[in-house]
Amino acid sequence: MQTSKLVKPIKQEDTKAMIRKNSDKLYSKAKDLFPGGVNSPVRAFRSVKGDPIFIDRGDGCHIYDVDGNEYIDFCCSWGPLILGHNHRGVRDSIVAALDKGTSFGAPTQLENELGDLIISNNRFIEKIRFTSSGTEAVMSAVRVARGYSSKNKILKFEGCYHGHLDALLVNAGSGLVTLGTSSSAGIPEAYVNETLVAPLNNKEAIEQAIAEHGHDLACIIIEPIPANNGLLVQDFEYLNFLRKITKDNDILLIFDEVISGFRVGFEGAAGLYNIQPDIITYGKIIGGGLPVGAYGASKEIMSCVAPDGPVYQAGTLSGNPVAMSSGKATLEQCLKLNFYKDLEEKTAFFIEKVTEGIPAASGFHMQQAGSIFWLTFSSNRVTKADEIDSAKMNFFKELYSYILENGVYMGPSGYEVGFVSEAHTIEDLTKSAKIINTGLKQVLDLH
Ligand SMILES: Cc1ncc(COP(=O)(O)O)c(C=O)c1O
Repeated sequence: MQTSKLVKPIKQEDTKAMIRKNSDKLYSKAKDLFPGGVNSPVRAFRSVKGDPIFIDRGDGCHIYDVDGNEYIDFCCSWGPLILGHNHRGVRDSIVAALDKGTSFGAPTQLENELGDLIISNNRFIEKIRFTSSGTEAVMSAVRVARGYSSKNKILKFEGCYHGHLDALLVNAGSGLVTLGTSSSAGIPEAYVNETLVAPLNNKEAIEQAIAEHGHDLACIIIEPIPANNGLLVQDFEYLNFLRKITKDNDILLIFDEVISGFRVGFEGAAGLYNIQPDIITYGKIIGGGLPVGAYGASKEIMSCVAPDGPVYQAGTLSGNPVAMSSGKATLEQCLKLNFYKDLEEKTAFFIEKVTEGIPAASGFHMQQAGSIFWLTFSSNRVTKADEIDSAKMNFFKELYSYILENGVYMGPSGYEVGFVSEAHTIEDLTKSAKIINTGLKQVLDLH
């Protein structure tokens, strides 16, 4: 990507250059070991300038790289760390579990404790099954939907990400609703032929899809708060429309709450909008920084799952006690009075500070859902993937180098959202907002 001529480069004298000798050495070695030097693609910094930094440790909202540079972190491991890094209670709980061993492949009390904690505080699921990642949770939920309905096709939305399962690595074609085209090599066409893709926030597309394919449509899957391609917050009215039309046509509605679950409220987006989906998937916060995913539904739907029912799904490390202990300690904190209210207010404060003196007319605003935020290089609210102007990502790219060098860490792509954790103090937020605000005014040429 070339830096667009519209982007005002940030003055060199305003950018401190951090020393990253050790990171550079490790990255050079990592490139010999892993594709692109990383174990998950976005970490490779391909959408921004420079090379990935290697992290040594984290504490609260701060992370420290292997050269000793300090950053205020808004990536929070892509969402799981709602309490911040190395939270003492979570760490103590992990250590207590570790003292008893790491994995048994047999049931443990901790699975019951986390399962019970979730179900007794969530009106939208009656039974849950733990997996080890969000991708696995979604893959299993889709299989359950197909098994339960005895139908084959699924429908996803353009701009929603659901993990790297074959059936959902699919892009839209050129029509309003299309059979998908694979967004990755290695996926047989026959798989993606079972996946329909529709634009978000468009009722007509769903009506058309159901008219044409409803008889064989097992489920519609949506991130109820789409947060993987910017933050494309949908209206209640649209989500409610999806709930009604799926119910009327015997199609299951899956809310993929891998990001929004336990993030916008303990009951996630289902609770926030008060909409009952048929199946909900979770990940990220549910494991408090260790690998956990889950899917949950009514007892009736979950009775399909092996060994009770015919839908097979399993995992060697599913319900791992160390991961369960981390999830449990994290979610117990999330249940504290005003936990979500405080996070949301802090995020609103942060947004107010970042955007100080930057009118929306300048081509920038921020979108928020609870403690999720997105730096939106547009004057208008964005609700659909095709409303994002990819050329504007050059503004983010320019800004990113500046904020990173000044000690603010975010996911290295303008399509990624940021997260505020319980550990971010007003002081941390004010300090980072000032840095981002200064960088923004330069890239937007507002001086
Ligand atoms: C909404 C959503 N679903 C599924 C996934 C996949 O989860 P994982 O990366 O744990 O496999 C993600 C990951 O970011 C996600 O955001």
